[in-house]
Amino acid sequence: MEFEKNILSIGAGYVGGPTMSVIARQCPEYRVELVDIDHEKIARWNSDDLPIYEPGLAEIVQSIRGRNLFFSTDIGAAIDRADIIFVSVNTPTKTYGYGAGMASDLQYWEQTAHTIVQHSRGDKIIVEKSTLPVRTAEAMERILSANDKGLRFEVVSNPEFLAEGSAINDLMKADRVLIGHHQSKTGRKAAREIVDIYRHWLPARRIITTNVWSSELSKLIANAFLAQRISSINATAQICERSDADVQEVARAIGTDRRIGPRFLNASVGFGGSCFKKDILNLVYIARSFGLEEVADYWNMVVRLNEAQKARFVRKMVSAMFNTVAGKKIALLGFAFKAHTGDTRESPAIDIARQLLEERAVLAISDPRALDNARRDLEGIPGKVEFQPDPYRAADGASALAILTEWPEYRDLDYSRIYRRMNKPAFVFDGRNILNHPVLFKLGFNVYPLGKKGLSHFR
Ligand code: NAD
Ligand code: UDX
Repeated sequence: MEFEKNILSIGAGYVGGPTMSVIARQCPEYRVELVDIDHEKIARWNSDDLPIYEPGLAEIVQSIRGRNLFFSTDIGAAIDRADIIFVSVNTPTKTYGYGAGMASDLQYWEQTAHTIVQHSRGDKIIVEKSTLPVRTAEAMERILSANDKGLRFEVVSNPEFLAEGSAINDLMKADRVLIGHHQSKTGRKAAREIVDIYRHWLPARRIITTNVWSSELSKLIANAFLAQRISSINATAQICERSDADVQEVARAIGTDRRIGPRFLNASVGFGGSCFKKDILNLVYIARSFGLEEVADYWNMVVRLNEAQKARFVRKMVSAMFNTVAGKKIALLGFAFKAHTGDTRESPAIDIARQLLEERAVLAISDPRALDNARRDLEGIPGKVEFQPDPYRAADGASALAILTEWPEYRDLDYSRIYRRMNKPAFVFDGRNILNHPVLFKLGFNVYPLGKKGLSHFR
């Protein structure tokens, strides 16, 4: 079959995979391909055991793989074939040298630019899909246009706003698609081609075009604003615990103000995920490099507060359990950074588990999707850890339960059965405020929610 256009994603991860699958399904006349340097990942994309879990993703992949959606490791051939290349490679925080711990590590990004030049024989549109520091498109352009083949590459920024666990829905019903382009004739033409893709399923009013730098910066700022809301509500939770206010009541009260809005006001053990911390640190780094110290400090506090939130949760557990958890079994329910994903990158559960192990607790970790990742995350950390898919078994003989991920199934567990088989006194620490605290208290648990008064049977 002849396809109208060849679209390629370099990088077949949490962004490349779902985004390209949706594009392929919505644009049957385009040939959509994903390549990756990770051969095992590509093999899994070509199998029934996809490398990532996203609700609805497997069904899409199974229905169109081999028709207009392809996964391959032949990066050179795919580049040569492509008219439009989305670069969706990872851009982690730099761990070495200048800017270590803050700046973006752009090695994968730059490597991709060189690979594109090497394998291209015609002009192409290059789409920045990864989240990048402001003015990265410019650097990309310099590398691309340093070719001696007379080729033209037009770089467009199209950051991705999907959230994990709801990626397909977020892509299908995107609040907005952002396309940053150069204000030149070729820049506008390239942007129109990208708009065309999204117009297959989104109305024109949802597609925003800006200049390239605004687009790059908007992505960092959107994540910083979202993370800031969580740090704000977590800071509020700390005040609530000291003042007998209830953070859920406060969130409801302020969320009804349309200027504030009700979403992203759930107090938690802290935000996780591969994006928030990395992107804010990137912003902090950019602000410092512009000499904007107060701006840098302001955003940095969002991350600091998040780190403190995790440590505080552990301190609360230890102090409630008579100042020692050494030798006590604690069941951690949930390890993924949020529900409906197996992803554990930057999950607050990692730090909490590590700190509890330092306190010599014995951990039983349960999660419906994330146990393989949890095993990898805790590898080499000394201490006793059991990975247990069955939450009831995880809780067997435990002194405490800690809810670390808001999986809906944890609401519906048979807590009287769990209570009977736990060590007494039994504790619940609800790091996501998803359980029915008065009911648990009546069953006999000592209950410690977030940002509200604990319910304890001790006098
Ligand atoms: P990921 O690690 O899941 O996927 C990136 C993939 O790129 C990996 O499979 C890696 O092997 C591959 N890769 C790296 N270098 C390559 C190269 N030179 N050639 C081919 N493949 C290469 O990362 P992700 O979560 O998909 O994130 C990708 C980008 O999107 C990041 O910049 C991230 O900040 C951004 N982003 C992520 C999310 C999210 O929810 N995960 C949302 C929005 C934006
Ligand atoms: C985020 C952004 O939402 C998305 O737009 C961007 O493209 C990538 O980064 P993601 O990290 O996948 O998405 O999930 P998100 O739903 O934003 O949750 C991030 C973290 O914040 C999770 O650990 C979540 O549990 C936590 N969170 C979220 C809270 O603690 N409280 C809330 O009210 C909301």
